[in-house]
Amino acid sequence: MTTVKIRFEHVRKEFVVRGEGGGPGRHFTALEDITLDVRSGEFLALVGPSGCGKSTLLDLLGGLTLPTSGRILLDGRPIAGPGRDRGIVFQQYALFPWRTAEQNVEFGLDIAGLKAKQRLDVARHFLDLVGLSGFVDRYPHELSGGMKQRVAIARSLA
Ligand SMILES: Nc1ncnc2c1ncn2[C@@H]1O[C@H](COP(=O)(O)OP(=O)(O)O)[C@@H](O)[C@H]1O
Ligand SMILES: [Mg+2]
Repeated sequence: MTTVKIRFEHVRKEFVVRGEGGGPGRHFTALEDITLDVRSGEFLALVGPSGCGKSTLLDLLGGLTLPTSGRILLDGRPIAGPGRDRGIVFQQYALFPWRTAEQNVEFGLDIAGLKAKQRLDVARHFLDLVGLSGFVDRYPHELSGGMKQRVAIARSLA
């Protein structure tokens, strides 16, 4: 039996939204009582209409926002913020325009303190994995939307 990796326990997320015509703010419930387990090695896809709360759920898992109530456990420990144990690939790529594909993938490795040769090896490995070995020196504006997203995936994996 595989172990539970991620656990959402009665998670609720409310946002305060501006009242109409500058009136008092009101609470908007984006997620209500979400409980689910994700097991180690499991591949989960969230599908739902626009605005149903998919990104809000992922932001919470990434530690980019905190639940209004309930909690999210990662390996049994509550998530308190972002961490290198969770990679995020954003909808809008979030690549650095002044860095090549390879330099984008190397970004986190640089912060993690890897030496230049190691960074290059890891970056090349993951760019190869996403089918971009011939495009390592391209800047984001020289890549298609799908290629940019693959650079973001390679960076997250690296
Ligand atoms: N920062 C925010 N402030 C107010 N409302 C928000 C905020 N972020 C998301 N929402 C609202 O929460 C709901 C869920 O949004 P979201 O999770 O982005 O949906 P999805 O990713 O499924 O399209 C939407 O109604 C959206 O308007
Ligand atoms: Mg979304």
